[in-house]
Amino acid sequence: MRIAVLGGTGPEGLGLAARLAQIGEAVIIGSRSAGRAQEAVGGLLPRLPGATLSGAPNAVAAAAAEVVVLAFPYEGIDPILAECAAALDGKVVIDTIVPLKVDGKFFGIEPPVEGSAGENIQAQAPGARVVSAFKHQSAHQLIELDRPMEGDVLLCGNDETAKELVGTLVRRIRDLRPVDAGELRNARVFEAMTALLLNINRKHKTRASVKILGL
Ligand SMILES: NC(=O)c1ccc[n+]([C@@H]2O[C@H](COP(=O)([O-])OP(=O)(O)OC[C@H]3O[C@@H](n4cnc5c(N)ncnc54)[C@H](OP(=O)(O)O)[C@@H]3O)[C@@H](O)[C@H]2O)c1
Repeated sequence: MRIAVLGGTGPEGLGLAARLAQIGEAVIIGSRSAGRAQEAVGGLLPRLPGATLSGAPNAVAAAAAEVVVLAFPYEGIDPILAECAAALDGKVVIDTIVPLKVDGKFFGIEPPVEGSAGENIQAQAPGARVVSAFKHQSAHQLIELDRPMEGDVLLCGNDETAKELVGTLVRRIRDLRPVDAGELRNARVFEAMTALLLNINRKHKTRASVKILGL
């Protein structure tokens, strides 16, 4: 499968690109700059010999892939979707974006009128099959390719088949478990939980994640 990671030059996208390439997927790192995309590929390839990795401008990457990961800051949603929304029609779109607002030492969220980044993306790209995921997986853990990941990957989305496809990808990443967290509007709670985790991390000087008990 070809998977584009838009904003894949940043730590979260790069970590996801690396993990997805590691499980054998063909990954296209997207960027606003073709040069930065190529640099990111050049940085990853020595760690993933034999991986199928390429770089391209975001719109080219989105058009070429069957699955598209959105891994850029909240502020990038409007400009990137203005350019790429049509290319997302019918595709599974994995939204990792948290509308974070940092107030001094406090992490909170500033959700859009739709309720969450996931729902905002769905409104701007109505043909996309949006699944919010990986919002609790830290970039630091993702990029440590020799170490197993910890925690559950919550999945929120309205398209059950899309959620199943993302769940299958998650299951192939060592030690990660997908948890269907219901419809896309649950992304509101999901995103707020990310801010809570960041506050816990700051207080305890750690990188906490989430594990759902009872399943
Ligand atoms: N970092 C984490 O541990 C973590 C964990 C869970 C979820 N997330 C979420 O994942 C997303 C990416 O996080 P990150 O830490 O990797 O972010 P980042 O480093 O700030 O940004 C990622 C990439 O997005 C592009 N970008 C930056 N500003 C942009 C803008 N205004 N418009 C369009 N593109 C822009 C840049 O790539 P180019 O300049 O190459 O285009 C940048 O390298 C965020 O929404 C974050 O909430 C992060």
